[in-house]
Amino acid sequence: MLGSAAHNRYHPRMSDHTNQSQYAGYPNIRMRRNRQTDWARRLVREHSLRTDDLIWPIFIAPGSNTTESIPSMPGVFRYSLDLLIPKVREASDLGIPAVALFPATPPELKTDDCAEAFNPQNLVCQAVRAIKDAGIDIGIICDVALDPYSSHGQDGLVENGQVLNDQTLTALCKQAVVQAEAGCDIIAPSDMMDGRVGAIRQALDSNGFTQVQIMAYAAKYASAFYGPFRDAVGSSANLSTGDKKTYQMDPANTNEALREVALDVQEGADMVMVKPGMPYLDVLQRVKDEFSMPTFAYQVSGEYAMIKFAAANGALDEHKCMLESLLAFKRAGADGILTYFAIEAAKAIQGEK
Ligand code: PBG
Repeated sequence: MLGSAAHNRYHPRMSDHTNQSQYAGYPNIRMRRNRQTDWARRLVREHSLRTDDLIWPIFIAPGSNTTESIPSMPGVFRYSLDLLIPKVREASDLGIPAVALFPATPPELKTDDCAEAFNPQNLVCQAVRAIKDAGIDIGIICDVALDPYSSHGQDGLVENGQVLNDQTLTALCKQAVVQAEAGCDIIAPSDMMDGRVGAIRQALDSNGFTQVQIMAYAAKYASAFYGPFRDAVGSSANLSTGDKKTYQMDPANTNEALREVALDVQEGADMVMVKPGMPYLDVLQRVKDEFSMPTFAYQVSGEYAMIKFAAANGALDEHKCMLESLLAFKRAGADGILTYFAIEAAKAIQGEK
């Protein structure tokens, strides 16, 4: 294998060591020479985080003049539409290329048929229109999955306790089309139904949205790290003790992730995503190496919460851990990162200049 051959060049076999001196290379080679000054470290630096790498996920609340805090995600809020606009403008002014919008749907609008998902006046569609009407120069990403709208908190339609695949595809296509009609730039299917990327591509194209991009949550795992997100969009209570293991991936698998990505690429995904982020850097690296696609990582709510709560309790330096965690995604091959730290990270990057 190419990878392991390259690997061996830097890791001589044991016999190479034993035939030569115990510390082959030293003292001629001193790795610390390149690390001794700030300028030298900058000169040899292999990866860097840029503002262009950041996507900011934002939660939207119904009503007006409302900022709701989310106890499991300190520093993250749900904004009503009027307060959302200045936040999105701030992101754009900082140079953040795109935002990902997540609506907290009022409980009375959650139903078994998830009809609110394809209501052109639903909260997320209103938000997309409001951002476009405000003339803000920023990409808008909308999630496609039924969980914000379902009475049971599942991403698909449910019958006799089963999440239905093919019937769900029809609903997802309608959801994608109303979002595109509202002005969404990138449709991001996060539902993990089989065949959804191809179905959505066809639905978008046949409605005249051939230029709307698809960012597929291609390798999305059934992860416990999504807990705080479900609080944020208000689906925790709906899902209750249920789980998503019949469609999201088993955290034990990586070959399967490559099959998932291959299918989404064949079906027309413009960009692919691996999710969660830091616990799945191995998957991210394999996906980038194998497909050379624009590849994104989602630093999910639980990863954010871990850093925030550890810092709040004095165990970690929040700022440094934030930047180190984001750089790890770049090292593993990500072209961009969805992160709740986007604003803070963009400010840090600008401060460095
Ligand atoms: C909806 C969706 C989820 C996330 C993004 N889109 C939750 C889930 O699948 O249960 C998680 C994001 C995060 O945890 O930050 N399907």
